[in-house]
Amino acid sequence: MNILHLDSSIQGASSASRTIAAAAVEQLRADHLDATITYRDLVADPIAPLTLEALADPDANREVAEFLAADVVVIGAGMYNFAIPSQLKSWIDRIIVAGRTFRYEPTGPVGLAGGKRVLVALAKGGVYRDTPAAAIDHAESYLRDIFRFLGVDDLEIIAAEGLKVSDTVRDAAIAQAIGRAREAAASVPAFA
Ligand SMILES: Cc1cc2nc3c(=O)[nH]c(=O)nc-3n(C[C@H](O)[C@H](O)[C@H](O)COP(=O)(O)O)c2cc1C
Repeated sequence: MNILHLDSSIQGASSASRTIAAAAVEQLRADHLDATITYRDLVADPIAPLTLEALADPDANREVAEFLAADVVVIGAGMYNFAIPSQLKSWIDRIIVAGRTFRYEPTGPVGLAGGKRVLVALAKGGVYRDTPAAAIDHAESYLRDIFRFLGVDDLEIIAAEGLKVSDTVRDAAIAQAIGRAREAAASVPAFA
């Protein structure tokens, strides 16, 4: 089994999304001792914003190869300015490649990157789900749309919300998300 683990929080050791994503990966590691884990810290080792040169040479693209090879992708992301970290956006810009991860057909685009499970640990300062503020949560909606576009129908976004509301709310939300991350990881089947 190939596991791709990405972190994109700029908040280092105090990052909630790094903690939650790590809990999922720990569970996967414990359950699948033979798994190969590729870890990328997109903040410590950033991917440059997309350029025309990079787009023109998709075969040289390490990110596409790692993404396509992964059976399970675990992503840690914080909500920054109602969207995702720009470091993660740079990674997404490298994996969306016509002919590799999607293709155009007469009826419209078709995703080519199905058959994998994607778990996203998404940490947010405010509360969005099931509230009117969901309309400005462009982190969760963007990630859902992008992975659906690429053909990933097995996506779970584990949200920890209200992290800036109070310490009590933060601690409870992170603990709950860690529990959910472990459960989601434990339900991953053994990929051949
Ligand atoms: C630069 C920055 C921008 C942020 N923007 C938002 C925002 O737009 N909405 C929100 O609810 N929380 C916002 N927050 C709070 C983060 O979502 C919160 O700190 C969360 O824990 C981030 O995940 P992380 O801890 O893994 O970095 C922001 C935090 C930072 C550092």
